[in-house]
Amino acid sequence: MTEFLVPSPDVIQKTAGLLKTGGVVALPTETVYGLGADATNERAVGKIFEMKGRPQFNPLIAHVSSIDMARRYAVLSPLAVLLAESFWPGPLTLVLPLKPNSGIAANVTAGLDTVGIRMPRQDATLKIIAALDRPIAAPSANASGKLSPTKPEHVTHSLGDQLSHIVIGGKSVIGLESTIIDLTGEIPVILRAGYVTKEDIEKLIGPVLDATHDSDDAAPKSPGRLLKHYAPKTPLRLDAVDVGPDEALLGFSSVKFMGKRDGGWARDLPRGWYLNLSEKGDPIEAAANLFSMLHELDQSGAARIAVMKIPEAGIGIAINDRLRRAAKA
Ligand code: TXA
Ligand code: MG
Repeated sequence: MTEFLVPSPDVIQKTAGLLKTGGVVALPTETVYGLGADATNERAVGKIFEMKGRPQFNPLIAHVSSIDMARRYAVLSPLAVLLAESFWPGPLTLVLPLKPNSGIAANVTAGLDTVGIRMPRQDATLKIIAALDRPIAAPSANASGKLSPTKPEHVTHSLGDQLSHIVIGGKSVIGLESTIIDLTGEIPVILRAGYVTKEDIEKLIGPVLDATHDSDDAAPKSPGRLLKHYAPKTPLRLDAVDVGPDEALLGFSSVKFMGKRDGGWARDLPRGWYLNLSEKGDPIEAAANLFSMLHELDQSGAARIAVMKIPEAGIGIAINDRLRRAAKA
């Protein structure tokens, strides 16, 4: 049985204690729930890979509670400091040169000489990291390749009996994994799209490269990027303008004029077969709902999930990135 922990000063200390002794705990963040272990403890980190069925070559993000903690393990250029000061705590992961003998376990970085670091914007998790006084290595708390968890029940549904403790933090407010930017080369490269957009970053530091599309380069910098990802069990059909028989509908904006192929209207679909990411067409609201609504429609029993088009701008770029990967699976 998984123990649900509601944050309190005692629970923060208890959780830090569990991590200090090599435990693995699921933790809330503003992006998605993470499956955390002490990033300096190779055996504890090894348990994360086992629980998720994650390939060893795919490195983990180390979560810190301050820029000073990041400096203990990685080399921060002035550019890195500027980005950290502007976006932390928040959904931006910086890939940085690892300090020699940093103490970060080799399996966190999958043996690379770089490390992905971010400071999450979630009070309880920040306090746990500070109490541990070491970074927490945490991938999303789902079985490898499956939908990311934005609610505690998604975590227990995916990892079930393997998980002894989860700290509760409600629904993840952003709902999409962090933007990842690699700062180890001459020009910064965005490796994964997220809530922090290319434009947000370029406003601050000028032009950056975009490697978020699979086909852009033959040798992807982000080792996990080409893996099957974010997949519900039910196949997806993107850019839907109507709903087929046996299809559930994931809407965006108004469905007033959307028809069913066998006659009638999409809005009359049976309960549990139609959800709307954002009736008012707000992409930020849509991002926050994306994974939880996919989780829900995955339970509908529909043969397919038809997904309406989401404009390719702002956070819509990250939403479409996740949807395309989910549809490919
Ligand atoms: O929002 C998030 O980033 C969430 C929460 C829990 O913080 N975490 C998350 O972790 O999405 P995960 O493991 O599902 O995705 C981490 C990604 C992987 O694609 C991995 O390849 C990449 O980060 N990554 C980690 N370290 C890296 C490094 N040193 N160089 C390049 N890519 C790295
Ligand atoms: Mg993941």
